[in-house]
Amino acid sequence: MRSSLLHSSLVQRINKSVHAIWQKTAFHPDIAIILGTGLGNLTKRVTKEVAVSYESIPGFPRSTVESHAGRLLFGMLGGKRVVVMDGRFHYYEGYTLEQVTFPVRVLRKLGAKILIVSNAAGALDLTYKKGDLVLIEDHINLMGINPLIGPNDEQLGVRFPDMSEPYSKRLMAVAEKSAHERRIPLKRGVYLAVSGPNLETRAEYRFMRKLGADLVGMSTVPEVIVGVHAGFEILGLSVVTDLCDPDHLKPVNIEEIIRTATEAGPKLDQLVESVVHKLPHVR
Ligand code: HPA
Repeated sequence: MRSSLLHSSLVQRINKSVHAIWQKTAFHPDIAIILGTGLGNLTKRVTKEVAVSYESIPGFPRSTVESHAGRLLFGMLGGKRVVVMDGRFHYYEGYTLEQVTFPVRVLRKLGAKILIVSNAAGALDLTYKKGDLVLIEDHINLMGINPLIGPNDEQLGVRFPDMSEPYSKRLMAVAEKSAHERRIPLKRGVYLAVSGPNLETRAEYRFMRKLGADLVGMSTVPEVIVGVHAGFEILGLSVVTDLCDPDHLKPVNIEEIIRTATEAGPKLDQLVESVVHKLPHVR
C-alpha cells in the first residue's frame, strides 16, 4: 500500500507545520539561514525576534539530544526579514533524509526565497587554514543516499532537478564583494558530504582529494538538494575546523573542532549579515 494512504502526504505535513507557525507569528521571511555546528551566535544579531521551538511545530523531527532542542528564530538582520534555523538535523543522528530536510520545505513554504547554509568542515585543500571561511561553489554527494528518493510530488518540485548551479553565482558574487569590503578572507571550494559519524581514514581523505573536493563534512548537501528542488536560490559557507592531511593526520578532537568553529563564528556572522544587507529587497 502506498505510504500516502497510511499517512498524510508530505505537502499536507508541510502545510500543517506552516499553519502552526503562523499561529505563533505572522512574520513572512524572505531569507532563510541554517546555522552549522558552533555557529549559533548569529542569532544574537537578529532583532525584533520571535522564537518558535521545534517541538512546538507539528511534523518537525523530535530532537534526539536534549541539549540540542532547536528553534526557528524570526526577525530582522541587515535590514531584511529572516528566519534562522538554530540547530539542524544530521543523518548520522538517525533521522531519515526526509526528516533532515523537512525544515527546508517549511522555510520555503513560509515564503523564503533565498537559503544561506553554513557548516563546519574539514579541509582537504591543504592551502586552507583552521578558521578560514570558504564559499561553497559546488558539492559532491557521497552520502550514499539522496533526500529526493521516492515518489515525487510535482507540487514541491520536478522529478529530475537540475544541478548545473546549485549554489547561486549571483549570491557568490555578493558574498565575495561583502568579504572584500569587510577585509574578510574568503576562499572558494567544493564541499563533499559523507554520512559520518566517524571521521575519515587517511585513504579516504586521499580519495576525496582526487575526486576534486576541497572540504568534507556531514551536512548541508541534503538540505541543498531539497533547497534546489524547492526552488531556493542558495549560498553555502563553510568554516574550516580541521586539516585533513593524510600524511600528517592526528587523532581528531571534536572539542577543538567546535572551538575552532565558534572562534571563527564572528567573521562568518559579519559576512552573512553583510550579504543579507546587500541583497535587494525581495518584495
Ligand atoms: N570530516 C568530516 N566532517 C567534518 C570534518 C572532517 O574532517 N571536520 C568537520 N566536520
